[in-house]
Amino acid sequence: MKKLEQVYEGKAKKVFKTDHPDQYIVEYKDDATAFNGQKKGTILGKGVINNKVTNHLMQMLEEKGIPTHFIQELSDRETLVRKVSIVPIEVIVRNIVAGSLATRLGISEGTPLKRPVLEYSYKNDELGDPMINTYHALAMELASEDELVTINRYALKVNQLLLSYFADRGIELVDFKLEFGRLSDGTVVLADEISPDTCRLWDAKTHEKLDKDRFRRDLGNVEDAYQEILRRVMGD
Ligand code: C5P
Repeated sequence: MKKLEQVYEGKAKKVFKTDHPDQYIVEYKDDATAFNGQKKGTILGKGVINNKVTNHLMQMLEEKGIPTHFIQELSDRETLVRKVSIVPIEVIVRNIVAGSLATRLGISEGTPLKRPVLEYSYKNDELGDPMINTYHALAMELASEDELVTINRYALKVNQLLLSYFADRGIELVDFKLEFGRLSDGTVVLADEISPDTCRLWDAKTHEKLDKDRFRRDLGNVEDAYQEILRRVMGD
C-alpha cells in the first residue's frame, strides 16, 4: 500500500491518497485545538492513542453490525480506511448533561438525561459548527431523508454499544460526536474517530474527567487521562 499525496489536513488528522482508488490513509496528529481553533496546544502521544482507541472501537462496532470506514491499522499513527465523502453533519449523542448543553439549557453538568439526546451541527469551521435540526439538514441538502434515518439509527445503536462497552471498563459515556461518510456507491458508513478527543468519558466511581475537557478547561494531567482511556479500552 503506497501513501500518496495529502488530500486533507484537519485539526487532528491528515488524510492521504493511496494507490488504491477507494482507500485512504488517515494519520493522527498530537495537535489539539478547542473552541473552534481559538485554543491550540499539543497533547503528547495523543495521535497514537486516538488511532488505537478509534480502531479498537470501530472494529467492535463493525462486529456488532455498524458499517464503518475502518480497514486496517498500518502503524501507531496511521490507519487504512475506505474512501468516503463526509456528510457535513456532526452528530452528537448525549446521555448526561455537560458542555454546551449545560450552558444552553441551564442544567447542571452531570445531570443524567432520561433518554439519549441526539443533536446535529452543520460542519462548517467559519460558522463555528452551528447546531441545526432535521429541517435545516434537508433544506440545505446536507443529507437525504433516508440517509438521516440511517444516521439516527446508527448513532443510537452506537450509543447503546459504547455505553455498555465503556461501563464494563468503569467509564461513564457522557456524550460524543460521530461523523458519517458515503462510499462511492452511496452507502452510509461510520467514519472519522471515536476517541477522548470526541467523547466525554468520566471515571464511573470518581467522575474524574478522562477526556479532552482536561485540555479545554486547563485541568492538567491531560496525557495521563488519555493513557488511562487507552489502557481501559484495550484491556491491559
Ligand atoms: O461542546 P459540546 O458539549 O456540544 O460537545 C458535545 C460532545 O461532542 C463532546 O463529547 C465533544 O467532545 C464532542 N465534539 C466534538 N467535536 C466538535 C464538537 C463537539 O468531538 N466539533
